[in-house]
Amino acid sequence: MQLFLDTADIGEIRDGARLGVISGVTTNPSLASAAGIGDREAYQSAVREIAELVNGPISVEVVSTDTQGMVDEGRDIANWIPDPWVKIPSTIEGIEAIAALAGEGIKVNQTLCFSVNQAILGSQAGATVVSPFIGRLDDIGQDGIGLIRDIAELFRSAQVSTRVMAASVRHPLHCVKAAQAGAHIATVPYKTLLQMAQHPLTDSGLARFLADWQKASKT
Ligand code: G3P
Repeated sequence: MQLFLDTADIGEIRDGARLGVISGVTTNPSLASAAGIGDREAYQSAVREIAELVNGPISVEVVSTDTQGMVDEGRDIANWIPDPWVKIPSTIEGIEAIAALAGEGIKVNQTLCFSVNQAILGSQAGATVVSPFIGRLDDIGQDGIGLIRDIAELFRSAQVSTRVMAASVRHPLHCVKAAQAGAHIATVPYKTLLQMAQHPLTDSGLARFLADWQKASKT
């Protein structure tokens, strides 16, 4: 399973990219706003900066809700950076926009996916990747990982080329479960990426190794 960073914070992306495990970045209007990006021009320049730091697809979300608006924004975003994935919501207007953009060869990340049916529509429209929001499903007492499993199994058995990206990842266990459920990609907050490396036995084991080494070098 590939790991993408789910943030628009340049500092986090710079630090995350240095680890050598990040294959792409996903952004959205909330993440852009949290990073202090207030308008389209600033979004474009931040996305260009991100593309300098990460060699891989960068997802950039439209803010229109009508099909034509989404298509126009998507065409524009497609020219911002070398490897853009245009994020289009899983509405019926969005499905039409996905079909139009995919038909022009523009890669689409179908976002805000909460059901298998939405994923079927997006894949048939030609989405490159579909993003089920697992944390938000868990928030309302539904099974986010179950949705990843259902979509991944369906796509695999039907030989659908659309990939499955676990989104709205909130903690390291989501990463494990998403990988086991067949997600091709998990897009993770920077904090979760760091948590993935943490284990108390690694810390105590390292402390003991170093203490033993110091003892040995004193004798
Ligand atoms: O990848 C989508 C993500 O940014 C949404 O996460 O935590 O706001 O549900 P969250």
